Amino acid sequence: MIKILNIVGARPNFMKMAPIIRSMNKHSHKMKHLLVHTGQHYDQKMSKSFFEDLGMPRPDIDLGVGSGSHAEQTARIMIEFEKVCLREKPNLVVVVGDVNSTMACAITAKKMMIKVAHVEAGLRSRDMTMPEEINRLCTDILCDYLFTTDHFADENLRAEGIPEGRIHFVGNVMIDSLLTHMEEAKKNGTCEKLGLRPGNYATITIHRPSNVDDRQRLAGILEALQEIAVDIPLLFPMHPRTKKMLQLFELQDYVPPIGEAAIGKLEKGLWSTEPLGYLDFLNLNMNAKFVLTDSGGLQEETTVLGVPCVTIRNNTERPITCEVGTNMVIGNNKGKILEIVKKVMSEERRKGAVPEKWDGKAADRIVEVLLRSFNE
Ligand code: UD1
Repeated sequence: MIKILNIVGARPNFMKMAPIIRSMNKHSHKMKHLLVHTGQHYDQKMSKSFFEDLGMPRPDIDLGVGSGSHAEQTARIMIEFEKVCLREKPNLVVVVGDVNSTMACAITAKKMMIKVAHVEAGLRSRDMTMPEEINRLCTDILCDYLFTTDHFADENLRAEGIPEGRIHFVGNVMIDSLLTHMEEAKKNGTCEKLGLRPGNYATITIHRPSNVDDRQRLAGILEALQEIAVDIPLLFPMHPRTKKMLQLFELQDYVPPIGEAAIGKLEKGLWSTEPLGYLDFLNLNMNAKFVLTDSGGLQEETTVLGVPCVTIRNNTERPITCEVGTNMVIGNNKGKILEIVKKVMSEERRKGAVPEKWDGKAADRIVEVLLRSFNE
């Protein structure tokens, strides 16, 4: 029996881990697994609601670390997770994505001589101002199993001298979740409930420190959004970091919350909501004219949905979404945002292609590799 600790911490981890747990459950006679939540994200709308939407089991262990500076948060996770490893003595720790929880648990386990698997390995933005890039580099160099989503990731790992035997191209677990929940999301009618017409509104997510922690930059993005919103309703589910910064910079008047009265008849304008659940947000994204974002995962989801994605960043660790998908990485200059959005608004919806192995079976491939390797 292989004993595994599966780690989640922040919102983008949940949809990556859900299909892995499902695949592991198919082999319960060979694998015993526990779900560890570090508590990096803790608000109901950033955490628990995703467990419900994704049909995930409740965490077996909650480290409850909460927010803090990078060093504080990473250190707290390491201290608490070390105790869990000592107690549970796992054969394997599985980490996903690139958040602080990913790196903290990988380092802790590896130093205790426990094997570690990284799902979504090899992504590189080459931008060392991104905390996620540091997390990705530190995690990948340590891990025994590197599960990748595309050929760019494989090439990045090889170029860093990672032995071929550690690299496994399995596809994209985030897309496993998307495909599993697509029909359910289609039926839940979020778009209609808000009074939005399919193809006649856009969704916005902006939360990266590079966009929201600088007042001038954030104001420039909001000014661009306000101009766009003259022609089309823009729906902006607000990440807690963004909400906090808007209040600090006194910019919250740019993005008023949707009032009760407006629900069901949302008009042109820039509107904020609380963070949305997985199914609601998927429904809104699949019906959107376009998505404007600085998120990583949304670049991938829109590629599969065939929805144009305007990425407000100077780089991406997911170039495959530009190569074959619908993604355009355009920076955060106000004039450029307006120019590109104008173009996207005038175009018919264009469908990108779906990258190889983004087919809903990535988690099964991961479990196959693990079973084969542990049997040997
Ligand atoms: C983290 C990830 C980022 C990911 C994002 C998705 C790292 C370094 N960053 O960024 O890669 O794209 O999650 O959401 O791991 N907060 C709350 N409630 C919560 C969680 C956070 O109010 O449930 C607030 C706190 O004020 C906190 C701030 O948001 O200080 C930032 O949270 P944190 O987990 O540090 O980073 P994110 O910006 O969420």
